[in-house]
Amino acid sequence: MKRHANGNDVVRISISLPSDLLDGFERTMKRIGFTDRSKAIQTAMRAFISENEWTAESSKGAGLIELLYDPKTRNIEKALTLIQHEYNHIVTSSTHIHLDESNCLEVIIVRGNAKSIKRLARELAGNKGIKRIKINFVKVI
Ligand code: NI
Repeated sequence: MKRHANGNDVVRISISLPSDLLDGFERTMKRIGFTDRSKAIQTAMRAFISENEWTAESSKGAGLIELLYDPKTRNIEKALTLIQHEYNHIVTSSTHIHLDESNCLEVIIVRGNAKSIKRLARELAGNKGIKRIKINFVKVI
């Protein structure tokens, strides 16, 4: 990555990326109302920073772990329940929604330090049948 400072606290960079990624980015930014690519990239970078800021291991807070999985996978429900029991010091509650025959959504509400929440999420994600996992964390300052 090249950086050129223009003396105005703004840097100009050039980056390499797959053309289909750029196409998708430009389509999305236009759909949501951005006309300036630099502004859209700045917004995306700020969201990236704020989404990942909490992962500093000493952070304390509360959040949600969303799991999408295939309930037809052998033993998955049992495995997910056992892991949550192991982490009962941070798991507050969970809600389960049967979406269709191949999809269950489980939302786990957690409270504690980022280190434990990350470890819990990693253990849940390691199970066969998990299609997607997302963490939303609210940091307590
Ligand atoms: Ni279900």
